[in-house]
Amino acid sequence: MHPFSPEMKQCPYPHYDRWRDESPVLWNAEMGAWLVLGYREAVSVLDDHRAFSSANSVFSPQAENVGGFPSIINTDEPRHKKLRALAAKAFTPKSIERDWAPRIQRIVDEQLDGIDAATFNVVGDLAYPLPVRMIAEIIGVESERFPQFKYWSDEIVKRIGVPAEHVANPAEFQTAIMELSTYFYQQMELRRRQPRDDLFTRLLEAEVDGERLTLAELQAFLVLLLVAGNETTTNLIGSAVRVLAEDPGLMRRLREDRSLVWNLIEESLRYEAPIQGFYRKARRDVEVGGKQVRAGDALCVLYGAGNRDQREFDCPAEFSLDRARRDHLAFGKGIHYCLGANLARIEAGIAINAVLDRFETLTLQEGYEVEWRLTPFFRGMVEYPVNYSAATRTAPAR
Ligand code: HEM
Repeated sequence: MHPFSPEMKQCPYPHYDRWRDESPVLWNAEMGAWLVLGYREAVSVLDDHRAFSSANSVFSPQAENVGGFPSIINTDEPRHKKLRALAAKAFTPKSIERDWAPRIQRIVDEQLDGIDAATFNVVGDLAYPLPVRMIAEIIGVESERFPQFKYWSDEIVKRIGVPAEHVANPAEFQTAIMELSTYFYQQMELRRRQPRDDLFTRLLEAEVDGERLTLAELQAFLVLLLVAGNETTTNLIGSAVRVLAEDPGLMRRLREDRSLVWNLIEESLRYEAPIQGFYRKARRDVEVGGKQVRAGDALCVLYGAGNRDQREFDCPAEFSLDRARRDHLAFGKGIHYCLGANLARIEAGIAINAVLDRFETLTLQEGYEVEWRLTPFFRGMVEYPVNYSAATRTAPAR
C-alpha cells in the first residue's frame, strides 16, 4: 500500500507499526522508495546530508531535480546554508516573541471574537486563518488578502509529494503557481522602487556569494514560506484542540497549570506529526537499518512513524502530557530542521491559551465524523466543529 493513499488517511499508525515490525527500513514498490519507519534510522538519514540529498525532498521520489522550484527545502549544501541564513534571523525565538507575539495574540482574539454563538469551528475559525495571516504579515504582503493566499497555498500543497503525472487538476495547480508568482513579481517591483522594512525587501536585497537571488530563487523562497507554515500549523492547532475536547479532565488540568500548554503542543506534534514524511535521495551506496540502499535510491523518511516507534517511546500510541522525551521528529532534524518551528510553537501556544481562557468545555458536535485532509504528506482534519460553554473564571497569570 502507498503510505499516502486515501486508505491510510483514517489512521496510518497501525500500518506503520506492522511495516516497522517487518523492518525499520522497508522497500515500498507503490511509492518506489525505501520507507524509513524507525526513529533511529530516520535520525541517521536526516543527520547525514552528505549521504542523502534533499534535491527531491518535497516532490516525487523519482524526480531527478526540481530546478523549477529552487527553494531551501530542496537545496543541498553549500548553497542551502547560505540561503537559509538570509531568513533565519526573522525566525529566532527572540524575534518572534519581540516582533510578532502581540500581533499573533491580536489575530487570535479577532478570530475568536468572530465565532458563532453556538459553534466553534476549530479549523475554519482559528487554526486555518491564524498561520496564513501571520506569515503574510511577516513576509510583508497584505494579510487581508489571506483567503487568496490560502487558496494558492492549498493548490500548491496538493501537488507536494505527488508525481507530476498524478497531480489532480494540473491546470488549477499551474494557474495557482502563475497567479502567485505574478503577485510576488508585482510586489517585488513595488519594493524595488520603494524598499520597505519587511522580510520580502530583505530577501530582495540580500546577496549570496556577491550575487542577488535569482527571480526563481526569490519566488521559491516566498512560496515556501507561505506554504510551509500554513497547513502544518493549522494541523497542529487542530489536533491540540481536539485533545482538549476529547479529555475534559486534561483540559481542566491545563487551565490550572498553563506551563503544561507546552507539553500539550510537543506531545501533539509527536502524536500527530502534521507532516508525516519527506523524501531524500541516496548519493552513494549506504546501509540504513540493515538494508543496502543504492546510490540514486529514494527514501521516504516518515516522521510520523518514527514518533510512534515503540523502541524509543514508551506506549507511543498513548497521548501523555507527562512524557519526558521531547525529541520527536515532527520538525525534522539536521540541516533542514524546520525554520518556522519557533513561530509554529508560539502561534500554537497563544492559540491554546486563548482557547483555555475562553472556553470551559468543548464538545464535538453530535453526529460529526472527523474527516482527514487527503493532501499526501500532511495529517490534519478537514474541520472540527465543537459546541462550547464559555469560561466563567478569569484567566490565571502566565
Ligand atoms: C507545526 C508546524 C510545522 C511543522 C510540523 C513543520 C515541519 C517541517 C519539517 C518536518 C521540515 C523539514 C523538512 C526536511 O527535512 O526536508 C520543515 C522545514 C521547513 N519549514 Fe516547517 N513546519 C512547520 C511550520 C513552519 C512555519 C510556520 C514555517 C514558516 C516560516 C516553516 C518553514 C519551513 C522552512 C522554510 C523549512 C525548510 C528549512 C530548510 O530546508 O532548511 N515551517 N518544516
